[in-house]
Amino acid sequence: MTSDSLRDRLRALPAFGGDLPVIDPHTAPADPLALLIDWLESAIAFPVAQPHAMALATADQAGVPSNRTLLLKDVTAGGLWFATMSSSPKGLELAENPRAAAVLYWREQSRQVRVSGSVELGPREVSDLDFLQRHPKARATAIAANQSSPIFSEAQYEAAVGSALARVHDTPGLVPESWNAYVLKPDSIEFWQATRHREQQRLRYDKTDGEWMRTLLWP
Ligand SMILES: Cc1cc2nc3c(=O)[nH]c(=O)nc-3n(C[C@H](O)[C@H](O)[C@H](O)COP(=O)(O)O)c2cc1C
Repeated sequence: MTSDSLRDRLRALPAFGGDLPVIDPHTAPADPLALLIDWLESAIAFPVAQPHAMALATADQAGVPSNRTLLLKDVTAGGLWFATMSSSPKGLELAENPRAAAVLYWREQSRQVRVSGSVELGPREVSDLDFLQRHPKARATAIAANQSSPIFSEAQYEAAVGSALARVHDTPGLVPESWNAYVLKPDSIEFWQATRHREQQRLRYDKTDGEWMRTLLWP
C-alpha cells in the first residue's frame, strides 16, 4: 500500500474538532423531544449546513434494510415529521413494516442524534400543506410518476413532467394522494457529542411504559 493510498488519506482526515458544545446530563430535560428541539435550534443558529437533512432507514418484512436522506419537516410532541410518496420504495416498506431509524449528523458541532420508533401516516391536511409548499417543478415530478420508478425514455420523462407542470399551474391546489406526511414516533433517542479531548458523550432516552428513562452510554 502506498503512502498516499485512499486508505491512508481517509485515515488522515480530521474527524472532530473545534470549539464544541457539551452535554450536561444533569440539566438535560426529561423529554428527549425537548432536547432535540434545543439541539436543532442550536444547529440552526450555529449555523450547521442543512441540519434538517436526516438519514431514514426502513426495512421490508424480510428485514432487508434501505436508507436514504430526507428533510426533517418538524418536531412536535408526537415525534419527527417527514414527507414522501407512499408509493415510493420507502413508502411501501413503511406500509408493510411501520418502523424506522433516523440519524441527524451535524458536522460543524460534532453531534449526532439517533432516533428509532414506529412510523404513522400524518393527517391529510399536513400532507397537503407540505406538498403545496414545494416548488412547482418538484410538485410536477411527484404528480407525473411514482418516485424511484425507472425512466425508460428521457423524452417521455420531459413530456410527463411538462404536462404535470401544466396541471400544477392550472390547478394550484392539486395534491396527489400518494404524497404523505409521516411521523416517526420515537421509542429511543440517543444524543451523541464529540469533545475536544477525543472523548464522546452519549445520552440515550428509552421509552418504557410511557415514561422516558435516561442512560449514559460508554463511548
Ligand atoms: C438532502 C436531501 C433531502 C431529501 N429530501 C427528501 C424528502 O424530503 N422527501 C423525499 O421523498 N425524498 C427526499 N430526498 C430524496 C431521497 O433521498 C430519495 O432519493 C427518494 O426519496 C427515493 O427514496 P426511496 O427509493 O428509498 O423511496 C432527499 C435527498 C437529499 C439528498
